[in-house]
This record gives sequence, structure tokens and C-alpha cells, in this order.
Amino acid sequence: MNSVSMLNDVAGAGVAVESIRKSYGTVVTAVDDVSLKVKPGEFVSILGPSGSGKTTLLMMIAGFERPTSGRLIIGDQDMTYTRPEKRGLGMVFQRYALFPHMSVADNIAYPLKRRGVSRAEIRQRVEAALKLISLDGLGTRMPTALSGGQQQRVAVARALVSQPPVMLMDEPLSALDKKLRDQMQLEIMRLHRTVGVTIIYVTHDQEEALSLSDRIVVMNRGRIEQVGTPDELYDEPASAFVADFIGRTSFLAATCLAVEGSNARMRVNDATEVIVPVSRCRDIVVGARVRIAVRPEALKLAVVGSAQLSGTLEGSRFVGSSELAFVRIANGELLQVQTEPGVSRKLQAGSPVGIMFDASRVSVFREGA
Ligand SMILES: Nc1ncnc2c1ncn2[C@@H]1O[C@H](COP(=O)(O)OP(=O)(O)OP(=O)(O)O)[C@@H](O)[C@H]1O
Ligand SMILES: [Mg+2]
Repeated sequence: MNSVSMLNDVAGAGVAVESIRKSYGTVVTAVDDVSLKVKPGEFVSILGPSGSGKTTLLMMIAGFERPTSGRLIIGDQDMTYTRPEKRGLGMVFQRYALFPHMSVADNIAYPLKRRGVSRAEIRQRVEAALKLISLDGLGTRMPTALSGGQQQRVAVARALVSQPPVMLMDEPLSALDKKLRDQMQLEIMRLHRTVGVTIIYVTHDQEEALSLSDRIVVMNRGRIEQVGTPDELYDEPASAFVADFIGRTSFLAATCLAVEGSNARMRVNDATEVIVPVSRCRDIVVGARVRIAVRPEALKLAVVGSAQLSGTLEGSRFVGSSELAFVRIANGELLQVQTEPGVSRKLQAGSPVGIMFDASRVSVFREGA
């Protein structure tokens, strides 16, 4: 067996969270009746704004917080009240928390020593782990002599070295700058592919969640808003919260005038009428006030007279391969419209512009839902 393959054959375990709740006192319910099934070997991100309960949920899976009610199954065992060290999970936290007085190799070896693994095997596994995180040869360095990204890689290796069936990561990259973060994301994806471990990954960074995960759990105020693949969340958000939280979204206030077969007729902006497929609408009844969520790429600039909506260009911004035009329409709403590079920036701020939109790509929600 070569040294790297020693870390290759971890069998990822499934995790089932069943109606878990965590209250602090009588006022705060940090996690409110959350159920979730993570498949063996899956990469699931928990995404949500600050205070939405992400860390609390992860700490209950890890065993550092005791659920107020509900059950937790890891593999095929009920571990709701199992002590953290008996769960055999790997953990990586936001701050790298390496032992500063120990070398890189000793840091990685620590969990193995505690378990009484033989010295020869420890040496082999540490070497394999260093290779896996592309830090071979740096075992004798002290943590302070490493960059932030390298330290975080060591923390990941330390969590992986015991070959845990599940790795829990709580904002492991948030202390790193953008470039290092991108690099580490690739590294984590590669590790996940190579090792086969199940990963539950907490982040408040939607781009990170979209690029890393098989599925994303969107949390809001202690509850799950939606669980889905990155594509599902982007194309078919289940709520206005998810539409707003994932990707760029503009909202148009409208009223549902009529439902005609598979189409709904909406009055936008108190004047224009648009037809939206009913399949893109949630809980719509005739007469209801609604919010139409629309991505920049489902809008385009057009000649004023012939367009569905008209407004005033407030400015535009280069965003890499395209541009975003910011257009204020008559009722005061600001829409973000994607254009080809060079198109919207040629127009003067204050110019009147028209907007066309692709109704098959919007999502419509009841006002207040
Ligand atoms: N020990 C505690 N006692 C009382 N309230 C707590 C405790 N720990 C967390 N909370 C509350 O529970 C809620 C969820 O907190 P949690 O740390 O899980 O959020 P989070 O989603 O991880 O946020 P962040 O993105 O800021 O890390 C918050 O309102 C928080 O104030
Ligand atoms: Mg947190």
C-alpha cells in the first residue's frame, strides 16, 4: 500500500438530523425543528445569514451542544447524546486552532497519539496526510512559520488523519483572503473527491456554497428555507428569502390580475401587464400582491417605446465577463440588468432605457410570504 492510499479508503457515513431543536432559555430558539438527510460521501453546505443557527446545528452534530429535542443518526447509530470524542468525526473551525507549541507533524499526529496508534503507523499516516495537502517536507515547521492558508490546510489534515467518516467544517476559510480562499476551495474539493469522506460545511458565503457543494441547505432564523442542488436553488428558489440570498436578484412588486390556463397575468409597476407561467408562481391567487424575483440575465435593455418596462439608467458596473446596468423604474424599484460588456457603460447615467424580461425565468412569490 503506498502512503497516500492509506487515507483514500474512508467510507463516508450518512447523517440524519431528525426534528432537531435547540433553545437557550425560553426566548432564543437557535435551531427550530430542523430535519436533514446527508448521504454517505456527500458534500453539503449549510448557508445562511449571521445568527441563523448554522453553528448551533453543526455543534449538535459534533456533540458539543445538546439538542433540546430531536434525534441525530450518524451511520446507523443514534448519536443524539453520544460524547463528541466517541462520535469519531473530524472538525475544522474558523480559526485554525493548531497547537502553537507543536510542529506541523505533531499537530497532525495528535489525534492518532491520543488513540494509541503505533509510532510507525503514525509516521506513515502523517506523511500521507502532508502529501494529501501538498505540504510534504514541512512536517518539522512550527505553525507560526506557515501562511494562514497553509495553517488551515494542516488543520484539515489533522481532521482527516483519523479517517473520520464525516468532516464538519465551520467557516474554515473565512480568515483567508480571496485568492487563498479560492485555492483552498479547490483543495477541499480535491480532498473530498480523493478521500470519499462526507462533508458538512458551514458558510455564510453563497459563492463558496455554490461552488463547493453537492447540495445546499439554506437556513433562516433557525429553520431550513430550502435544500437543493446549487442549480435548483438558483433557478427555482422556494421563497423570496432564498431568491434574495442566492445570486443577484431584483424584485418587482406586482398584482396578480388573472390566471388563464397555465399562465398568470400580472400588473407590474401599476401599468405594464406581463404574462408569467403559473409553474413559476408559488401560492398565487387572483388579486394577490406578489413579488416577481428576476435575475439580471433574465432582463435585457431595449428601445424605450417597444419595451415592457421603462426606466432611467442610474449607472452600470463591469462584473468580469459582462456588465450590470442599474435601472430605476417609475415606481421607484431598482432593477439589475445584465448586458454585454461595453453596452450599458456607453449610455449616460440619466438616459431613459427600456427593459424586456424573460417571464419563463422569473419566480413569483406572495407578498409577505
Ligand atoms: N450559548 C448561547 N446562548 C444564547 N443564545 C445563543 C447561544 N449560542 C447561540 N445563540 C443564539 O442562537 C442563534 C444562532 O446562533 P449561531 O451561532 O448558530 O448562528 P450562525 O448562523 O452560526 O451565525 P454566524 O454566521 O454569525 O456564525 C443566534 O441568535 C445566537 O445569538
Ligand atoms: Mg456560526
